[in-house]
Amino acid sequence: MNNKLISLKGISKVFKVGDEDFTALIDVNLEIDSGAFMSFVGPSGSGKTTLLNLIGGLDIPTTGDLFFKNIKLSSMTRNQMAQYRRENIGFIFQTYNLLPVYSVYENVLFPLLLNGSKEKDAQDRVMDIVNKVGLSDQIKKRPSQLSGGQCQRVAIARALVKDPVLILADEPTANLDSKNSIQILELMSDLNKQYKAAVVFSTHDEKVTRYVRREIGLEDGKIISDK
Ligand SMILES: Nc1ncnc2c1ncn2[C@@H]1O[C@H](COP(=O)(O)OP(=O)(O)O)[C@@H](O)[C@H]1O
Ligand SMILES: [Mg+2]
Repeated sequence: MNNKLISLKGISKVFKVGDEDFTALIDVNLEIDSGAFMSFVGPSGSGKTTLLNLIGGLDIPTTGDLFFKNIKLSSMTRNQMAQYRRENIGFIFQTYNLLPVYSVYENVLFPLLLNGSKEKDAQDRVMDIVNKVGLSDQIKKRPSQLSGGQCQRVAIARALVKDPVLILADEPTANLDSKNSIQILELMSDLNKQYKAAVVFSTHDEKVTRYVRREIGLEDGKIISDK
């Protein structure tokens, strides 16, 4: 059985900043297995977000090839890329990125509507996931009425609801205190076991290290360790 979800082959990313070229990633080679629970660790500016954005199809590499299963991401059109994200990837961000005028329920429902589901067919699924992240009692509230930890639970539910094969979480605990960070990590670890989704974090929170099964170190755009 082929367990490989994502392959990166000789990936580099160069940003133009004024007249200058800035190399954010240099010759990154990496494979991510189905069901993985892993993190990219490194100082600020080491390329973690750039790498997650490439894997998630939010940006394209300057050189190299990226494969999802056996499909080459780097030769997809913009529309195919959008479809790849909608169908396969859940994103979780440091600042939650919830829709402020929507309730918890509506925020979690939204990706299913984008994927073409009817609300009446999606309702049970939404309620089930909201329950799983422990927010059944907050379903009608808006993000501004929730704590940071609760907002991140909504973001986790929103990422999971469409049953993605991969969740990309960019510094998901960076805005949380230590107690909430641990609760979020335990929840994500549980959900990774219950659902099939692989989870890839970027972080410089050393608490994350205790939870992941694989940790990839980044420095100046290069992979310096993999353990
Ligand atoms: N859109 C961009 N334009 C120019 N430089 C960028 C852009 N995105 C990231 N960079 C640069 O690339 C480097 C890596 O950034 P990033 O991937 O955000 O690092 P990290 O997430 O590890 O903090 C940084 O030096 C950053 O300034
Ligand atoms: Mg970052």
